[in-house]
Amino acid sequence: MNPQTRRPPAPEGLPLFGNTFEFARSPFEFVDKAIDECGDIYRMELPGTEVYVLANPKYFKQVLVTDSNAFGKTPDFHRAFGDGLLSTEGSQWSRQRGILQPLFSLDRIKEYGDSMVNATQRRLATWEGGETIEMESEMQDLTLEILFSTLFGRELAPGEGDDLRTASDGLNKWFAPTSWLLPNWVPTPARREFSNSIERLRMEIRQLLSEHSVDSASENQSDMDTLLSKLQDALEASGQDHLSMEEVEGQMLAMIFAGYETTAAALGFAWYSLATNSDIQQAFHEEIDTVLDGNRPTYDDIEDLELTQRIVTETLRLYAPVHTIPRQSTQDVEINGYRISSGEEIHLSIIAVHRDERFYDDPETFRPDRWTDDFEEELPEYAFVPFGGGRRMCIGREFARLEATLVLATIGQQWELAWDGGDPTLTIEPEITTQTKNGLPLRVQQR
Ligand code: HEM
Repeated sequence: MNPQTRRPPAPEGLPLFGNTFEFARSPFEFVDKAIDECGDIYRMELPGTEVYVLANPKYFKQVLVTDSNAFGKTPDFHRAFGDGLLSTEGSQWSRQRGILQPLFSLDRIKEYGDSMVNATQRRLATWEGGETIEMESEMQDLTLEILFSTLFGRELAPGEGDDLRTASDGLNKWFAPTSWLLPNWVPTPARREFSNSIERLRMEIRQLLSEHSVDSASENQSDMDTLLSKLQDALEASGQDHLSMEEVEGQMLAMIFAGYETTAAALGFAWYSLATNSDIQQAFHEEIDTVLDGNRPTYDDIEDLELTQRIVTETLRLYAPVHTIPRQSTQDVEINGYRISSGEEIHLSIIAVHRDERFYDDPETFRPDRWTDDFEEELPEYAFVPFGGGRRMCIGREFARLEATLVLATIGQQWELAWDGGDPTLTIEPEITTQTKNGLPLRVQQR
């Protein structure tokens, strides 16, 4: 690397605190403003550290694919997810991915479709016409139930979901920008909650694993492989197929954390978008009525539910549930002529690229019909990356797309949703996943 290369520019900030306050107050606005001021690669100054923000598909490709060996996961990931797939590296990661991949093969995904629809119908049985439902948390309940009935092969016991959700919310707080105001060693309430949450999640996970081994000893289990049976086998296996107890807990943490809140966020934003665009909601209902003809949706209907799939795609663009992919450089690298030294934290701002008018006309508007074949063909590589890219791409992407489409179709077949939150302008906030500031109150009415 040329030693003369410059460092990326930094937006104007306060002495000592740099960009911290402005970023914490309104993180997405800050990113937009910083890009206007500095361009699509800039340096954010925080107490005791700096973060390099990238907002260009070409740089995404360099970090995730071409130079991926020069970037690893950040220490926060290791702290949160231990030895799980989300945070491990190198041969440990590829061994773990090899063990888990069969649970996400196309044949397996097809088999999950029925359970996804069943879980949705169970939840719908609790809805009452005319009531207002907080859809952000309702979708979290539903996707957690789906995760358990599919991957884990068992239903959630009453209250169990609440405990898991509270614990994983605590993990999320660690990554919220407000907890960046102070250096890492200061024990803020969010950080204490984080440590407690990890402990609670691990306790829940040990409980799940021990129940599973009791059940399998009493042959109270189906023959189908589930995450729990796979992990149990891996504990007992030797060589390449072996996982330690620490790794098994890490996989459970990763799957619970990555596997429900992301899809729940997509579904919540999809309902908000439909409720505030009545013409699109009407066309969505018409498609469901024509394609399903009164029958419950199945995997085989997916291809014909074209508008529903575009609604999912457009939601993943406009409200990317994972708004930012963090990395740490493991050697000196050069990006677009700028120098980034080894050990720096890098943020790939997916949401900024997904809302960039260089790639999307009218980028702030929800327009599922933009997703024509021609448009997709012309879209630059890595300009649409809701599931990341390269070898660390989301293992659950097909699962998530199937789940989102089937949940939308099952609910849309029977219910119409209306916004019940006054001014429909939405303020979104980054935790690990994209969340709303004030929730998503939606009134449900039987069709
Ligand atoms: C709309 C829903 C989802 C979105 C937007 C999403 C997004 C992502 C993204 C962006 C990454 C890459 C992170 C990185 O490179 O640092 C990722 C990784 C991952 N996701 Fe998802 N995800 C979704 C659903 C799921 C589901 C349903 C599961 C599991 C059931 C899952 C499990 C994982 C795991 C285990 C990884 C780590 C993969 C690895 O490093 O090998 N995700 N996801």
